[in-house]
Amino acid sequence: MRTQASAHATALVAILWVAATASANAQDASAVQRGNIKFQRTCAPCHGAGPGNDGRAALPGTDALQLKYKGTLPALLEARTDLTADVLKVYVRRGSWSMPPFRKTELTDAEIKDIAAYLATSPKAGPTLSTR
Ligand code: HEC
Repeated sequence: MRTQASAHATALVAILWVAATASANAQDASAVQRGNIKFQRTCAPCHGAGPGNDGRAALPGTDALQLKYKGTLPALLEARTDLTADVLKVYVRRGSWSMPPFRKTELTDAEIKDIAAYLATSPKAGPTLSTR
């Protein structure tokens, strides 16, 4: 009896674990999707990979980060692996040099988290940039 009960308990724990993992993955997937859309709309106009429309080889965010890190870190935010939600929040709320700060009415904390979820999964092996 006792072993049967504990086998049932083990099975139940396993089922709950599988269910919890599946729902966490579904949540992650939708956070990544929301973050991707938000990033493309709000950040990529400065942090994307394309050339600037002002005749410069890169967009302003990408250009500035290429100058700042000189290749020791990727100039593209999507290629970085160190941008957690907490790190993003500092830059996004305060701004940084020519990057404007974003208020909570423009971009919520939840949306910053979604962007971090997207940046954690975006492909890291992008094209190498040489802006100079
Ligand atoms: C108007 C252009 C512009 C927009 C829009 C913009 N950024 Fe920036 N961002 C910049 C520039 C320029 C820098 C580099 C500033 C510097 O030289 O320190 C920067 C820097 C950063 C950094 C600092 C990285 C580092 O290691 O120094 C982060 C993180 C960042 N941006 C995230 C974002 C996110 C997330 C968004 C969208 C919510 C965003 N930015 C939107 C222009 C922009």
